[in-house]
Amino acid sequence: MNDTPPVCDYEGSGYRTDFWEGRGREYEDLTERSALRRLLPSGGRRVAHLGAGFGRMTGELSAFDQVIVLDYSHTMLRDARARLGDGGRYVYVAADIYRLPLAEGSCDAAVVERVIHHMADVPAALRQIRAILAPDAVFILEYASKRNLKAILRYALRRQAWNPFDEAPVEFVALNFDFHPAYMARCLREAGFRTERRLALSYFRLGALKERVPLWLLVTLDRLLQPTGQIAPFSPSVFTRNVAMGAHPPAALDGPLFKCLDCGAPLRNDGETVACPHGHGRWARRDGIYDFKEPLSG
Ligand SMILES: C[S@@+](CC[C@H](N)C(=O)[O-])C[C@H]1O[C@@H](n2cnc3c(N)ncnc32)[C@H](O)[C@@H]1O
Ligand SMILES: [Zn+2]
Repeated sequence: MNDTPPVCDYEGSGYRTDFWEGRGREYEDLTERSALRRLLPSGGRRVAHLGAGFGRMTGELSAFDQVIVLDYSHTMLRDARARLGDGGRYVYVAADIYRLPLAEGSCDAAVVERVIHHMADVPAALRQIRAILAPDAVFILEYASKRNLKAILRYALRRQAWNPFDEAPVEFVALNFDFHPAYMARCLREAGFRTERRLALSYFRLGALKERVPLWLLVTLDRLLQPTGQIAPFSPSVFTRNVAMGAHPPAALDGPLFKCLDCGAPLRNDGETVACPHGHGRWARRDGIYDFKEPLSG
């Protein structure tokens, strides 16, 4: 019954230690934080951090009363929980963005960074995200741009087959996509978002530069360049701030957080499980993580 697109599975992955910690990516991390801070609203009730991974950026969402830390990978969520703690504010959810178990209109913000590049069906993912947002909610989306200076140069020198100016997404490795800014702008519009701001970042994502130029200088220069993305980003990473348009679904910020993955009814909380009142299924909460990847049997 589950005919959703394939997921890039991070179960068992050492993403934190293999990609971030001690891997010379302080510049990328700091520029992403600075972009997120620029775009985040000053506060809010409930933010969905989708594809949150090990919670690298989740701490930036402290102005919200509640933070839904959602990821497909239990490994990532366990790591996130160990880092962020339980402490009331955080709700950990194992689920697929293509099948979000969150109630319609239940969040007044969503943040997705370094995730959409794993999505073969961007429109389907954006539809799911739009549905959980209340009217006028803010959606911050980061995506990997194919129209970046390095790709343009490589294409000009015939070192790269794909055309960075072609609007179609390019899958350079299985389930890893780069997107053209015009393509992403259209997908966002069609999913019911108005893009308010766009930042271009990580222009200095080059080993030689990062080795020779002080980190603070690279981050400062990056920050100065970020606003140029409003007109034309040519950077490898783009952050956008989008607003959910229209009155549907109505805001449901006070209602139940979870919905049935089958019929959409609000789920009843039975302590260590949440259940559909129409008997479509029950989902477990184990070690502080709601598990919507598989329903409980029986
Ligand atoms: C490159 S990591 C980024 C993690 C985090 N956003 C960060 O910036 O550090 C991509 C994350 O997206 C998650 N992910 C990929 N596809 C997903 C899906 N369909 N539903 C939920 N999470 C997904 C992965 O499990 C992984 O944790
Ligand atoms: Zn149901």
